[in-house]
Amino acid sequence: MSENNRKAHLNVFLRATGHHAGAWRHADSKPELELDIEYLAQLAQLAERGKLDSVFLADGYAGGGSKLEPFTLLSALASVTKHIGLIATVGTVYNEPFHVARQFASLDHISGGRAGWNIVTGAGSAAHNFGLDEHPEHAQRYETGEEFVEVVKQLWDSWEDDALIYDKKNGRLTEQGKVHEINFNGHTYSVKGPLNIPRPPQGYPVLVQAGSSEAGKELAAKTAEVIFTAQQTFEAGREFYTDVKSRLAKYGRTADELVILPGLAPIVADTEAEARDIEAELHAYVDTKRALRNLSERFTVDLSDYDLDDPVPLDKAKPSEEFNGIRSRQEAVLDPARRDESFTIRQLLYRNNGGHGHITFTGSVLQTADFIEKWIRNYAADGFNILPQLVPTGLEAFIDKVIPELQNRGLFRTEYEGATLRESLGLKRPANVRHLQRQ
Ligand SMILES: Cc1cc2nc3c(=O)[nH]c(=O)nc-3n(C[C@H](O)[C@H](O)[C@H](O)COP(=O)(O)O)c2cc1C
Repeated sequence: MSENNRKAHLNVFLRATGHHAGAWRHADSKPELELDIEYLAQLAQLAERGKLDSVFLADGYAGGGSKLEPFTLLSALASVTKHIGLIATVGTVYNEPFHVARQFASLDHISGGRAGWNIVTGAGSAAHNFGLDEHPEHAQRYETGEEFVEVVKQLWDSWEDDALIYDKKNGRLTEQGKVHEINFNGHTYSVKGPLNIPRPPQGYPVLVQAGSSEAGKELAAKTAEVIFTAQQTFEAGREFYTDVKSRLAKYGRTADELVILPGLAPIVADTEAEARDIEAELHAYVDTKRALRNLSERFTVDLSDYDLDDPVPLDKAKPSEEFNGIRSRQEAVLDPARRDESFTIRQLLYRNNGGHGHITFTGSVLQTADFIEKWIRNYAADGFNILPQLVPTGLEAFIDKVIPELQNRGLFRTEYEGATLRESLGLKRPANVRHLQRQ
């Protein structure tokens, strides 16, 4: 597709109050409605009004947060929306493939083919909530994760698309030989099957990944259809894009079979000055000491010993190989400082406050559209994972002001392409492996 008629794909990373660390204290945000389905439904309908590809819910299994479980929430949102994709994070550690296959097949049937699975191996340790002493280490997580995804796909394929025949006269609900045991025996999993729900409308819900480490990129090139990533500069974004796309051919895949969506945390207003005012308000709500502690953890250096306007002490940071947490996120957070020696701890802190590792952008409607256009036209992204720093007003501004500008520039859809998330993303419906084997 020539760069002139490339269209962006846009997902919104939904958080009820916004992604800025100070957002919940802002007058516009409604932290008290975090569990309120009517409010969350309005946010999903707002995203659909903007013709966005999808809404995405992050998730983890360690306590302390207060939010609804993704499948429960997305099933409810499926009944109050028609077109928008519904992407849930489900970890491959602390879950069973049979359950996950069934939950996503159910969401895909309920939504008429709009489900997506953000496959994470989970960096945050929840071992203590599952009777385990420690979280599996990075390489192990990816190995088991790959097998997990394979079992889930085989379970989705355990029903052929035309297995159900409802032959009331002869009393045959399913066609003989079209529902299969999978008898999977792998290194970690052994699963007999079949699944107890027919094949999802999309064949497979859209497979999303969010790993950016070497192992993460390789697994994505092999199996992902969408990849979420955190890139803090245009250069880093384009390097990542070129790198991951170049790995597809060896798996017999083409560039348009993987949609790369870096995170973008915007603050948009009619003028840049207004947007900067909102940004300053949000930073004022942040407990700087606490934010510095969070950043120090990611940075592996206690930054409270430095002045906020000192340059980032890069030479003190632990090499990422020694980091068992989110390696790629650590890299992303440090990238601006690596590319600009004068980058201060305050600048790093403000970026982290606004985008927790994703690139932040504060500006007018036209400046925001320019930013997006540059990355799309120069193959640094196929679209963005939008992290509105302030919700609902920041999301409203993006939907009501930036989207029309992108549409005017021919950079974004004006109507949904079809009924399913795959059609919105331009992804093929995968054939059932059993049909392929018979051919
Ligand atoms: C946009 C985005 C969303 C993510 N959402 C989650 C999440 O919901 N739960 C989670 O445990 N990890 C989440 N992650 C972290 C990734 O799953 C992964 O652990 C991380 O990117 C590190 O992978 P890597 O070590 O391969 O780089 C997310 C990452 C990104 C970029």
